[in-house]
Amino acid sequence: MNNYKIIEFQSHGDNTGKLISLERGGNIPFDFKRVYYIYNTKKNTQRGFHAHINLKQVIISVSGSCVFALDDGMQRREVMLDNPARGLLIKGLIWREMKEFSDDCVLMVLASEHYDIDDYIYDYKAFTRKVNEKK
Ligand code: TYD
Repeated sequence: MNNYKIIEFQSHGDNTGKLISLERGGNIPFDFKRVYYIYNTKKNTQRGFHAHINLKQVIISVSGSCVFALDDGMQRREVMLDNPARGLLIKGLIWREMKEFSDDCVLMVLASEHYDIDDYIYDYKAFTRKVNEKK
């Protein structure tokens, strides 16, 4: 599966704490137009269950943890997001599901485009059809 990548961010730390900086064209390899965060997710809930047609995203668990499942129509991978110094870059047609959120989980998402409902695919069968079109 090559539509995703883990990016390691440099953490600037000293004995007072840590800081990570995100820069477009630097450690974030696209021009992001939008940042949003997912938090206060209720116990045992799952989120996502969609794919994007054109959107690029970097997803970072700035607090707590969750499991992020990626599916490209052929293979499925699960990535544990539990480290603010690590970003999950998704740049292609990938079905996403998120689960096992810790109470303190805050997922920050940098997105290459403004919110556009027409970029979403919410039906898994429609997603696999789109994957096959692109082959
Ligand atoms: P949704 O995509 O359903 O989130 P999830 O799949 O994680 O449950 O988004 C929830 C609501 O927020 C929905 O009404 C659309 C709105 N929303 C925006 O207005 N802007 C955004 O950038 C995003 C991601 C969602």
